[in-house]
Amino acid sequence: MVKKNTCVFISGKGSNLKNLILHSRDNNFPIKISLVVSNKKKADGINYAKKYNIPYIFVDNNRNSCEKKILLNLKKFKISFICLAGYMKIISGYLIKNYEKKIINLHPSLLPKFKGLNTFSRMLKNKEKKGGCTVHFVNEKLDGGIKIVQKSFFIMDNDNELILKKKTQELEYKALPEAIIKIFRNT
Ligand code: GRF
Repeated sequence: MVKKNTCVFISGKGSNLKNLILHSRDNNFPIKISLVVSNKKKADGINYAKKYNIPYIFVDNNRNSCEKKILLNLKKFKISFICLAGYMKIISGYLIKNYEKKIINLHPSLLPKFKGLNTFSRMLKNKEKKGGCTVHFVNEKLDGGIKIVQKSFFIMDNDNELILKKKTQELEYKALPEAIIKIFRNT
């Protein structure tokens, strides 16, 4: 199997990046992590790129230079698939157009519910019965693209934000690899 050269975008801890790196060591997993992009110099996730010898770049907040740098490197590393895993920045329409149906995002809620930030506090405030995660294609609407995989759990009476995060992330570690396998199943 020829693995797709994939770029993972992160901003923080990078536990999903680590999970993808470990999955991609399996010959049958359809992607290879060939590049990591972070918009935070201090993102802990960069340590996984270092540990597993994956090239990485940092981008700043200047829209034009950031965009240029990303596109240049996507070309340089022959990237054909992009995975946003905890990337806390909106990516540009130009990038989305150039990688149509080739960018996925991981979101910590049962979309279309709770798009955007602070999902857990809003879920608690709303007395939701269920939480979960969604992997979806990225389009120009925030957290609005076609769903690929969604997984849910029940919210208990004494669950707090921390517990919701933990429950969500446990599902994310399954949902993201599952979505990637699903996307490339017939290619
Ligand atoms: C994940 O929970 C994801 O849903 C959200 O950001 C978090 C990233 O976690 N978008 P990590 O950096 O992969 O540990």
